[in-house]
Amino acid sequence: MHAVQLQTKHSGLGRIAACAALAVLGLITGCRQDMHNQPKMYPQRGSSMFADHRGARPQVLDTVARGQLHEDSYFYTGVIQGPNGYKEESNLMPFPVTMEVLERGQERFNIYCTPCHSRVGNGLGEIVMRGYKPAANFHDQVRMAQPISHYFYVMTHGYGAMPDYSAQLAPVDRWAVAAYIRALQLSGNATVADVPAGKAIKSLKEVAKEENLPASDAEPWELPTTAVQAYPHTNEGTPAMAPGNPADPKIFIPASKPAPAAAK
Ligand code: HEC
Repeated sequence: MHAVQLQTKHSGLGRIAACAALAVLGLITGCRQDMHNQPKMYPQRGSSMFADHRGARPQVLDTVARGQLHEDSYFYTGVIQGPNGYKEESNLMPFPVTMEVLERGQERFNIYCTPCHSRVGNGLGEIVMRGYKPAANFHDQVRMAQPISHYFYVMTHGYGAMPDYSAQLAPVDRWAVAAYIRALQLSGNATVADVPAGKAIKSLKEVAKEENLPASDAEPWELPTTAVQAYPHTNEGTPAMAPGNPADPKIFIPASKPAPAAAK
């Protein structure tokens, strides 16, 4: 009754009182520790719980965490003990290559590799056309001669300017991509005699027409200029490109596009 009177008659005072009460309540609850302070192990710090006073327990000898046995080391590393005692790359596939494996490989390849190597694997993907270091052409003599596990190895560890893809591709997918690259290489030199009886083949031009793409998409293409090779990480000197921001020589905008309005 009293409180209500205070609120109705002197509502301003009542509000202040309510606010103060809330603040006090907040302070009191803020002081409760509950589970905030509790005995626990800190990494790399001592503890009195174990006889050796180490907080972190050493791994138990001769045991392997679940799912980390990796018994088939070739499957996980792409290298195998060679005759001279060193680990070597090999032409072995660690599991049979089925159509399903190739399709998975094609899908992953098209997602992760084509930006630089292009769908046909000539090393002139969109990023390279815009100035990235030319990626390997899978149809040249060097690449054709490399064993299949070399591709697995490059995807696992990266190679020169190429980043590794071990986070994006699980080992089984890396092998599938490697198998697909081999298929891509074989397709580059295939003849009609290689096509199984009863299977229809289409030329790239026919595919382009079906997909409503310009016929030029089916033609081989080249880097816009050799200057890109001279300065692989910029587009300096590329005639098709005009400087966008003269203050930053690394930013170029294709000449055909209008220059963006200056920043305000
Ligand atoms: C960001 C661009 C980029 C992407 C994406 C990329 N690569 Fe590369 N790749 C390169 C470049 C650049 C080189 C040449 C490296 C060098 O010479 O420094 C290369 C080289 C290679 C080589 C040749 C290694 C050798 O022995 O010469 C292989 C094999 C390869 N890449 C496989 C792949 C596969 C498989 C993928 C997809 C999982 C992939 N790359 C994705 C840029 C890329």
